[in-house]
Amino acid sequence: MARKLIAGNWKMNGLEGTGRELARDLAARARSAAPGCDLLVCPPAQLLFPVGEALAGSPVQLGAQDCHTEPSGAHTGDIAAPMLADAGCNHVIVGHSERRANHGEADALVRNKATAAQAAGLTPIVCVGETEAERTSGQALAVIESQVRGSLPDGGGSEALVVAYEPVWAIGTGRTATSPDIAEAHAHIRALLTAIHDDAGRDVRILYGGSVNPDNAAENLGVAEVGGALVGGASLKADDFWAIAGSCP
Ligand code: PGA
Repeated sequence: MARKLIAGNWKMNGLEGTGRELARDLAARARSAAPGCDLLVCPPAQLLFPVGEALAGSPVQLGAQDCHTEPSGAHTGDIAAPMLADAGCNHVIVGHSERRANHGEADALVRNKATAAQAAGLTPIVCVGETEAERTSGQALAVIESQVRGSLPDGGGSEALVVAYEPVWAIGTGRTATSPDIAEAHAHIRALLTAIHDDAGRDVRILYGGSVNPDNAAENLGVAEVGGALVGGASLKADDFWAIAGSCP
């Protein structure tokens, strides 16, 4: 079983000073006490270079929060996967629910972004998850299944793909899914991954995300088939992110 991956999604937060400082702090901790899990931070695009510089020589990896489907071209305001690789990234988040909701991104687009990421040598972290209305109406697993089937790229395997299960109602709300609900969703995603990718699907890490913090991390990370965490708010504080990393079993 692969080591767990703790990924920080900084979202639209951080200026040059604060971003560099946070990255320096994490890098120093990781250099002096090797973490028992893989660590990744995904700052906003303007911080990729300073954060990458601060992380250099440490075990903390660099990722981005989104990419375009094309490798270059007339796409004002977008960023291409080869640019992210050039900036030192090895992962990129795609299909986050905030992009699905705020930018109308549908499964087919997410799948094309994930494919573009793989073509550039990046590991896409493909996010899926149901809304509260979908869960209360008993459709959570069906929604997750259709997002997995529609959003995943062709290539699987532990280096090529990460999936993140993030119930939309748990993101930034302080509410987390119960362990049985997380276990059920992750088992369903695992079954789909092995059906789609055979053996390569067995190794794909499935992260849980949604209000993960130092108090609930050990429980969340202890659930079967949870291969790590995608952490938003708590990843902006070095102490909290480090405590979550330290909760890996
Ligand atoms: P949160 O965000 O930890 O602040 O809930 C998680 C995410 O959106 O990836």
